[in-house]
Amino acid sequence: MTTTTTGTRVTKAVGTAHARVEGRDKVTGAARYAGEVPFAGLAYGWMVLSTITRGRVRSVETGAVLEMPGVLTVLHHGNAPRVDIDYVGMLGVPDPTVAVFQHDRVPHAGWPVALVVAETSEQAREAAEALVVHYEEEPHDVTFAGEHPDAYTMPGPGGPAVTGKGDLEAELAASAVVVDAEYSTPEEHHNSMEPHAATALWDGGRLEVVDSNQGTVWVANELANLFSLDPASVRVRSEHVGGGFGSKGVRAHQVAAVMAATVLSRPVRVVMTRRQLFSLAGHRSPTTQRVRLGADAEGRLRALEHSCLSRTSTVYEFIESGAGVARVMYDAPAHHTANRVVRLDVPSPTYMRAPGEAPGSFALESALDELAEKCGIDPIELRVRNEPERGPVSGLPFSTRSLPACFREGARRFGWADRDPRPGLRREGRWLLGTGTAAASFGAGAMPSTAAATAEADGTFTVRISAADIGTGARTALTLVAADALQVPTDRVRVRIGDSDFGPAMIAGGSMGTRSWAWAVTAAAEELRERLALSDGIPPEGITVRSDTTEALGALAQTERHSFGAQFAEVAVDVATGEVRVRRMLGIFAAGRIVNPLTARGQFTGGMIWGISMALHEEAVRDRNTGALYGADLAGYHVATNADVPLVEADWVDDPDPDDPVGIKGIGEIGIVGAAAAIANAVWHATGVRHRSLPIRPDRVL
Ligand code: MOS
Repeated sequence: MTTTTTGTRVTKAVGTAHARVEGRDKVTGAARYAGEVPFAGLAYGWMVLSTITRGRVRSVETGAVLEMPGVLTVLHHGNAPRVDIDYVGMLGVPDPTVAVFQHDRVPHAGWPVALVVAETSEQAREAAEALVVHYEEEPHDVTFAGEHPDAYTMPGPGGPAVTGKGDLEAELAASAVVVDAEYSTPEEHHNSMEPHAATALWDGGRLEVVDSNQGTVWVANELANLFSLDPASVRVRSEHVGGGFGSKGVRAHQVAAVMAATVLSRPVRVVMTRRQLFSLAGHRSPTTQRVRLGADAEGRLRALEHSCLSRTSTVYEFIESGAGVARVMYDAPAHHTANRVVRLDVPSPTYMRAPGEAPGSFALESALDELAEKCGIDPIELRVRNEPERGPVSGLPFSTRSLPACFREGARRFGWADRDPRPGLRREGRWLLGTGTAAASFGAGAMPSTAAATAEADGTFTVRISAADIGTGARTALTLVAADALQVPTDRVRVRIGDSDFGPAMIAGGSMGTRSWAWAVTAAAEELRERLALSDGIPPEGITVRSDTTEALGALAQTERHSFGAQFAEVAVDVATGEVRVRRMLGIFAAGRIVNPLTARGQFTGGMIWGISMALHEEAVRDRNTGALYGADLAGYHVATNADVPLVEADWVDDPDPDDPVGIKGIGEIGIVGAAAAIANAVWHATGVRHRSLPIRPDRVL
């Protein structure tokens, strides 16, 4: 073990590779996921989804189904408990998508119209499939292509709808080089390995929900609001989570389970099927984007315009703010960005890993590559020349901005210096070879959290925080952070997470989870250590110290806080079939202090592999006649599999956050940012053809 000193802090565990503390439980099956936790008297709910895309439910024929073996009840808009959606929750107004069985309207294909509850999962499923629902069908519109007359501007998560400074047309006219291009990305889905699952039960006047989510306090508060309950009377637990990626907030399954548990006065479990995830879990909207860049002969930007059109449902406004990334990455005397959205008869989109940045970086970083080509300047040099002094829109200084360092280190390791910039020159049999690069960034924030640290009488320590480990390794990272703050070996620290009774804390989201929690854990653990130094002996109940970071975060200086990265890809393009193979990828990130290199590497490479998927495979295709998806399953929805994934390497440069007690910035989402652009730019370098629509399918390459 190495000992490092950060400021006045001695760190032994943070920065060293540590296998997941719950790894053995996970691989041996001892770790229970939400759909597996046993309960006495458990009943099973099966959701019935609409087969039409727009209209009304005329009737639900419950009679025959209620006679089927084991069936306990059928909930639908005519008999389900009412919920209240007139409140403001953590993410603003609630998503009426979760107010299921409240009205007879069908706003999209796959809308929940009933819940069949039975003694066994099989009985519930059989009855759900036998349930006859009569509809009144109305015409629908699911077509998202280029422009739409009903599109309107809308602020995004964490940003205004529109920003602008300078005379765009004048600067473009005065530019030596201009790029004006349109890009598009398709509807994409985060279909977690573990489907959404919840079990609800009433226990002595308290609602208990065992769930799979990205934040137990978040879900508990939303359920309390929806069902008009005292927040203290709702407890949500979520110990192990098999992926979330933005999809695991409050969703139809928890609400349906609570309704059924209330009606039946017994525990009820609702698990989404793989196919149901495609309409109930949220997704990433398709985008069409336009980027206009103008530069002087040396490649210095005079004009930058980035506009992004995405799509939401008629139920809920969510915007995929693709144009936001330009507000951080590059400045220009004329700088304009706009995010617009159009309401169509589709399921509600939601946060999906790097919401905004993932599709936005594809367009912007592809356009930068086109500008580099037109200027005859190396794409890395072009980016370095356009490094802004301050936030292009905010005018605030960057807390740290190590993008050039990422490119320097990446170029060295990737072998960029030897690259001939001309496209279409390298051939190996039927393969054309090329390399590409792109920049990445993602916000690095922190949100208030509370934690408790207990010194146990046996000399061990227990940390409690309502954090969520959605597969990121957060539980392990917090163990390392706590051990260092307590100055004890990691095997004396037990971190308990995933329980709303542990108190308010940030969700696993926005790349802010581990950072926000680590701050609270550090505060509690350091104070506990001070308390122990003054105490003589530990009583049987232990000594507990609680922390709350609300004030510390409020005192933070206003700066632009971001992680940055440089993505590199090498591709081979089959001239006979149009197939694109990624041969290797390298990502170098400046993303704060890396707590656990083992799981951090997995976070980065996981995002980069998702970038391969995004560039080459992922595309949810909606049938404009039925309004539903073709192939709403993991056979029809293509993702990169092992055969598609070559050597993918991720590493980082030293970039501790100057204000964070551990130096953390956040690494959850940046791995996918820029990855698809790096691949698309490599395809251009291989073939000489620009691909501005994802995915780069063989039929598009030919
Ligand atoms: Mo992330 S898309 O904030 O879970």
